[in-house]
Amino acid sequence: MRDRGDLTKGADQAMSDLLQYDPAAADAVLDAAARETVVQRLVTARETLLGDLTDPPTSTSFNPLDIDFVDWPEKMLADDTELSRIEETASAFRDQNDEIVLLGIGGSSMGPRALFSALCDPFHNERPRQARGDSPRVYFEGDNLDNNSLVALLDRLAQLAGRRWALLVTSKSGNTLETAVALRVFLAALESRCEDPAEVPGALAVMTGAESRLREMARTIGCENIFSLPERIGGRFSILTAVGLLPAAILGLDIRQLLAGALATTRRFRETDPGNNPVLDHAATSITAEEHHGLSIRVLSVWTKALEPLGLWHDQLLSESLGKDGRGATPLTVVNTRDLHSRGQQHQDGRRDKLITNLLIDDPGSTPLVIPARADDSDGLNRLAGRTMPELLGAAIRGTNQAYAQDRRPTADIRLPRLDEFTLGQLVQMLMLSVTLEGYATGINPFGQPGVEGYKRQMHKELDG
Ligand code: PA5
Repeated sequence: MRDRGDLTKGADQAMSDLLQYDPAAADAVLDAAARETVVQRLVTARETLLGDLTDPPTSTSFNPLDIDFVDWPEKMLADDTELSRIEETASAFRDQNDEIVLLGIGGSSMGPRALFSALCDPFHNERPRQARGDSPRVYFEGDNLDNNSLVALLDRLAQLAGRRWALLVTSKSGNTLETAVALRVFLAALESRCEDPAEVPGALAVMTGAESRLREMARTIGCENIFSLPERIGGRFSILTAVGLLPAAILGLDIRQLLAGALATTRRFRETDPGNNPVLDHAATSITAEEHHGLSIRVLSVWTKALEPLGLWHDQLLSESLGKDGRGATPLTVVNTRDLHSRGQQHQDGRRDKLITNLLIDDPGSTPLVIPARADDSDGLNRLAGRTMPELLGAAIRGTNQAYAQDRRPTADIRLPRLDEFTLGQLVQMLMLSVTLEGYATGINPFGQPGVEGYKRQMHKELDG
C-alpha cells in the first residue's frame, strides 16, 4: 500500500502501476494525416480546458461549466477535512448496519455501482459478514419506477427482523422523481424498522446540492449526515466525490487510493505529450475514427464480468456528454468472451461503423484455475489440460483482435496492470477527461444534459393532468 508521500508522484509514478493506452491496431487502419490534425486540435483544446480551471474561467462559452472534477482529487487529498468526514461517517455506517440501501439514479448511482462491482467480491451480498471484510450488504434502488423490484427489496428488508439497515440517498438536484419517491417509500420502512424514532436520523446519509428539497427534507428529519455535492461537478462526473466515495468507504475500499490514481491521470494529462498521454491519445483515436471514417459506434469491450457496470457508467458518460444537437458517437459496452457469442458476429462482419476499445487487466488477481485432465477425454479437452483460465482468455483476446485486424476493423487497448483502487481511479479519471476534451475539441458542450428534460416534462404532464 502506498503512503501519503507517494500521492504526489503523479506523472513520475512507476510505469508498472500506470494505465496504458495503445492505439497501434487502430493506427494501422485509420488515416495517419487526419489523426495528426486531430492531435493538434486536441492540444489546443487542452489549453482551453485548462484555462477553464482558473478562477474566473478564461476560455469557455460552455454553460453549465461542470469542470471541477479535473482538480477534485488533488483538492480532496490536500485538504483532509471532507475526506476524514467521509471516512468517519463510513466507519459508523459499517459498524452499525448489516445492510445499506443506496438510492439514486444516473450519475448518482452508476459510479458507486461500478466501484462495487469492480472492487468487491461478486458474491459480496451472499457472504457472511466476516467474509465481507466486516462491511454491510449493499442494494441499489431509486433508479427506476419498477414496482416489482421495490417490493422485492422491501420484502427482503422486512424479513431481516432485528437486523439494522440504513439509507444512503444521492440526488444533486434533490428533486429527481425516481429517487424522491423511493426515499418516501424506504423512509417509511426505516421508520417502522427503528423501535426508537430517534434512531432514524442516524440511519440516513444524504448527498445533495446546496439548496435542494432533499437537503430540506434531511434537515427536517434531523439528519446530520449531509454531504454537499460540489456545484461545478455534474452527476456523471461525480464518482470521486462523496457520491462514490462514501459507499466505497462503507464497503472498506481505500478511497485515498482511488483519488491518488485519478490524480496521477490528471497530472499525465496536463504534463505529457501526445503519444504518451492516454487521455489525449484516446480522444484522438475516437475523433479520427468518427470524423474521418464514419465510425459512430464506440464499443467498450471489457474482458471481465466485474467491469460491466463500469461499462454502463461509461455509456452514460459518453451519451450524456456528447449526444447533443444531432451529434455524438453511440457507446456500447460488451462483456467478452460472453458477447462474442451474441454481438460478435456483427462486430466482425457487420456494418463498418465501430471503433472497438478493449479494456484489459494484466493480472486477474485471483488464483489461476488449471484445466483438469480426465481419464476418458470424451470431450476432447485433454489437449488443454494443465493450461490456465487466464491463458485461455489471453488466447481469446489475441485471437479476437487478430481477426478484427485481418478485416481492417480498428481496435485500441486500455491496459490496467491490475484491478484495484489505484488503477480504477486512473481509469475513471482518464475516461472523464477524455470525453470532456473531446467536447472541447469538437465544439460540443460536454456538460449538462438538456435532452433528459424532455421525458421529465411529458411525464409530469401525465401525472399532474
Ligand atoms: O449526469 C447527470 O447529471 C445525471 O445523470 C444525473 O446524475 C441524474 O439525472 C440524477 O440527477 P440527480 O442527482 O439530480 O437526482
